[in-house]
Amino acid sequence: CGDKIALTPPMGWNSWNCFAGEVSADKVKRAADAMVKMDLINHGWTYINIDDFWQNHRDSKDESLRGKFRDDAGNIIPNARFNDMKGLADYVHGLGLKIGLYSSPGPWTCGGCAGSYGYEKQDAESYAKWGFDYLKYDWCSYGNVINGLPGNDASKVSSLSYKGGNELATAKAPFTLMGKYLQQQPRDIVFSLCQYGMSDVWKWGDSVGGSCWRTTNDITDTWASMSGIALAQDKAAPYAKPGNWNDPDMLVLGTVGWGNPHQSKLRPDEQYLHFSLWSLFTAPLLIGCDMEKLDDFTLNLLTNDEVIAVNQDALGKQATCQFKKGDMRVYVKELEDGGHAVGFCNFGLEPVDMSFSDFQQLGLKGKLKVRDLWRQKDIAKLDAQKGRLPINVPAHGVLLVKFVSVK
Ligand code: GLA
Repeated sequence: CGDKIALTPPMGWNSWNCFAGEVSADKVKRAADAMVKMDLINHGWTYINIDDFWQNHRDSKDESLRGKFRDDAGNIIPNARFNDMKGLADYVHGLGLKIGLYSSPGPWTCGGCAGSYGYEKQDAESYAKWGFDYLKYDWCSYGNVINGLPGNDASKVSSLSYKGGNELATAKAPFTLMGKYLQQQPRDIVFSLCQYGMSDVWKWGDSVGGSCWRTTNDITDTWASMSGIALAQDKAAPYAKPGNWNDPDMLVLGTVGWGNPHQSKLRPDEQYLHFSLWSLFTAPLLIGCDMEKLDDFTLNLLTNDEVIAVNQDALGKQATCQFKKGDMRVYVKELEDGGHAVGFCNFGLEPVDMSFSDFQQLGLKGKLKVRDLWRQKDIAKLDAQKGRLPINVPAHGVLLVKFVSVK
């Protein structure tokens, strides 16, 4: 992997799902404090990522800020809720955590704040100077640039957003540019590409310096959204490797909701399945909920080290579906120690109750020990050729196990 960073998938928190346009330095600090207080820091959770809305908005209500996106030298001016970006980064680093932020290659971010178009070099320099460790770079109004509307005319933004990224050279250009400037900085900055999988980003994200890239559209905390995204990941799987991760978007667990906080609408079994799949997928694990409102159930989901180890496995292989029957999908991920993490995933509304014997189809051989990773308990020993394993999985639930060869 040479000079690569993010050799295992980044783990942390992102402000978007719970705070959206209301994010502030104070809320970011409190999320970082909670990461430490709840001991998540000792389970690998590291990044505290500010999403959209740390920059000034094109329709800022504050007269004094309106139109004041940059200083005379072109350096970005954060909004009034982020009056000391370096101080914030120092605070988060002081807790032993890392910090990230967000921008767009277009003139505007998805939320209508100032983007990096035309100021990519200054922005990369600002991020490094402040001490940031992670940039999520979101396509959004880059469609305006392609269509010859790079200016600040807000009225022309929305209709052109997202469009135009399907031609390969066009899709790569803005990420190549920012990737180059990030690499020139005297610190490691994880480069997270966000353009929803356009132009098969998994095939070229590495070549523009990307550490991870979104493969699909924005997740919401519904079964339809989570399961639809999960079932669309296989095509990108062969491209995951240490330093390059497919990103199916954030974790919709805990207290989430756009300024209207509510507990995730995923049922408990769906949340087990969600976290299991994201672990099998070697996905970046970014908690999207309000860290100060972590309930015991969510905290338990986020601190099971045997499940996290599947995600963080050094081999960096992404699971793919190796067996289908009815609504059951069996995802298999090879692990560095020669073992296999396997998710028996029930996407249906009826419980699965079966005796499974197709181990060879999963690529398993010889004598095997079977360990239930959520319960952290060995549940069986069997022979891949003639053994059977009872699989009882509730509706929309999962049995996540590890198969280890034994004598
Ligand atoms: C897009 C991204 C989201 C979030 C918002 C912010 O929709 O996909 O993850 O960053 O923009 O405006």
